[in-house]
Amino acid sequence: MNLSEKMKQDWNRRAQHHARYWIATEDYRTEEVFARSGEATAQTILKRTENLSSPSWTVLDIGCGIGRVLKPLAPYFQKLVGVDVSSEMIDQSKLWLADHPHITTYATSGIDLQEFPNDYFDLVYSYVAFQHMPRPVFENYLTEINRVLKPERYFLFQLPLGNFSDPPLEDTIGIRAYPIPEIVDKLRRNGFTFDGNDLLPSKLSAHTHDFLFTQKIQHPSLAQEQGKISVEWIKFETCSQEFSPLDLHLYTTFAERSFSEGNNQEAIATLQSVVRHNPHHLSGWLHLANLLMETGQIEQALTTLQELTVLHPRYKEGHHTLHQLQTKLQISLGEQPRFRSLEKATV
Ligand SMILES: C[S@@+](CC[C@H](N)C(=O)[O-])C[C@H]1O[C@@H](n2cnc3c(N)ncnc32)[C@H](O)[C@@H]1O
Repeated sequence: MNLSEKMKQDWNRRAQHHARYWIATEDYRTEEVFARSGEATAQTILKRTENLSSPSWTVLDIGCGIGRVLKPLAPYFQKLVGVDVSSEMIDQSKLWLADHPHITTYATSGIDLQEFPNDYFDLVYSYVAFQHMPRPVFENYLTEINRVLKPERYFLFQLPLGNFSDPPLEDTIGIRAYPIPEIVDKLRRNGFTFDGNDLLPSKLSAHTHDFLFTQKIQHPSLAQEQGKISVEWIKFETCSQEFSPLDLHLYTTFAERSFSEGNNQEAIATLQSVVRHNPHHLSGWLHLANLLMETGQIEQALTTLQELTVLHPRYKEGHHTLHQLQTKLQISLGEQPRFRSLEKATV
């Protein structure tokens, strides 16, 4: 599996689970709330391009998801295009954007912009997408964005700036943060200039969701072209299906919220999918078993704990929880309990 395929697989899985959640983890619950969050992002873009933009512009959104930001921008531009590595996100974008025939969305490689000619767009923007991409992918996009932008046109993007952070290549969601000198160097080598005020440390720390505003001034330097890594061919020998730490955290958060809002089955289905993909995620198994117990699905809780103890025979907590449940069941059936410590069991 190469990097492009891995990004596709992972983002399709997330989009199938709950596209709105994986796009806007705080604003996903209803379509109205989600749409309002898109309007806020769109307003920021319009403000940053005020007095520069024209309704005749052709605009590109990279990592557009289902079109949260494209939709509220629709009245302002003649032609809008969205690209995303996930075909599932793009399928859902067709529904979300159905009333806007001048917005087109495409599932692309997740690495380049080969569908588009040179000097084609007036504005390229990207929001909460580059931060999830492996560094070489972001770098490749910079070269491509320079190619598809018309001379002296604009590139607006969000990226966490500050301390260097770089999860492993195969982690397709972990947050990459960029020290300022690194981003300045990447922009320069790829032919972009930027407003230095954007990079003042006092403005940055608390604003990881701000946009950086840059302008195409020249073609990428020769050194940049020659030093290019072919990201398409970064391959993983054994590509695990297990989730990254941020994936696990976000699935668990989703399950907890669903449960607290009374959507028990949604919470349980989410945790079942987590342990199916991540059989080594021990706390995920216990979490699932507890939810099943709390919702009275005792048979399933028993099966889950039995499966856990077979898969992980040395995991004491798993055995302990299974014994507690079995004892509790015996008590409720009027049998003599074999174990005494029942405090935690919740049936
Ligand atoms: C958190 S969502 C944000 C979606 C959209 N930008 C928004 O603000 O509503 C991140 C999106 O980036 C997409 N994505 C991730 N890696 C990508 C890549 N290499 N190329 C294009 N899209 C990518 C994901 O599929 C997902 O739709």
